[in-house]
Amino acid sequence: MDDEDAETVRERSLSVLTSSWREADGFCPPNPTVYPHQWLWDSCFHAIAWAAHGDPRGARELDSCLHGQLANGFVPHMRYFGRTVSRGPLPDRSSFTQPPIYAHAARVLTRAGIDLPTGLPMSIGRALDWLWMHRRTDDGLVYIVHPWESGSDDSPRWDSWVSLDSYDKRRFGRYDRRLVAAADFDDLGAAVWSRSFVVAPAAFNAFVAHAFAEFAGLTGDASWDDRARQLSAAIDTLLWDETEGLWSDLPIVGDGASARRPTLDGALGALVTTDETRARRALDQLLDPSRFGAPFGLAFVPPTDARYDADAYWRGPAWPQLNYMMWLAARRWERDDVTAAIATCSRRAALRSGFAEYWNPETGTGLGAIPQGWAALAAAFT
Ligand code: GLC
Repeated sequence: MDDEDAETVRERSLSVLTSSWREADGFCPPNPTVYPHQWLWDSCFHAIAWAAHGDPRGARELDSCLHGQLANGFVPHMRYFGRTVSRGPLPDRSSFTQPPIYAHAARVLTRAGIDLPTGLPMSIGRALDWLWMHRRTDDGLVYIVHPWESGSDDSPRWDSWVSLDSYDKRRFGRYDRRLVAAADFDDLGAAVWSRSFVVAPAAFNAFVAHAFAEFAGLTGDASWDDRARQLSAAIDTLLWDETEGLWSDLPIVGDGASARRPTLDGALGALVTTDETRARRALDQLLDPSRFGAPFGLAFVPPTDARYDADAYWRGPAWPQLNYMMWLAARRWERDDVTAAIATCSRRAALRSGFAEYWNPETGTGLGAIPQGWAALAAAFT
């Protein structure tokens, strides 16, 4: 990619954000037409992308995604704007959560010299504390109670719960709606358990452990480093899969045989593990074309897997927000070969796909909503 293309990426990235920015509400919907509400991890990624432009709107956007926080610290995965939706008993927000990228986003903003609103670090601490206190197994892993909470909604890792032999988006959707009814909610309306679907995913656990470490860095409070260490030790003890060279998910309630399937997010343990050999094995697969490496990677599912479909939602395409998190993991292990490959294919794919929500990893053809806010992360690989 030459300098001119890099400049085009920056310009387009900023225009994706500015064109969907809602000044009154202080955030960008992921795509104003397809996704008109606020999504938690999307707004965190938007904040990171704003920071890459040195734009203080990132701090407002990060703050706004915590506006839906309940009095007990829980942060909903959506706040509804306009059209009515139902994700549990709360009228204006979801009762489920999503990966906690807010601590990392706060750190990125601070490093970019952008001031955080007063009170935001405390809200982040309460959010992380809620996950640690209310979503932990006896083994010390963090669990989710709905596929939406993973952010990887239709991942092949959930297939056996949905009883799917072959992927069917509508059936997945029907199952997701049934799962809302299978959840148990606390007094304030936050989901705390499910009678059908409870799982400790490798990726969600890695995001939480990473968030703890980032929060320790933000606040200087070493007790969060202890929690990060405890959680990453549990991830390595309980989730490492020597055959795949990835971290697998641990089913807790429901038929979870599919939780061991190789998907890109199984490599995210590299964000937090202390085991260099494992990190190397997982990161090597990001360059390997029979695993997650692709001209417009990273593929979410290996092309050698029978379930791989280069165009289907969460069944093969590349996702900009996962590329960004994998790039962070590769940077942590000083894998310049991997960081360079991810940065190059992410920028190239952003241009080819029109800053799409996700794209075909072989051709870069844009899929889902176009443009999508988190594709603006293409400017953040620096
Ligand atoms: C889809 C994705 C989810 C994302 C949302 C809004 O549901 O699976 O991760 O947060 O869209 O972009």
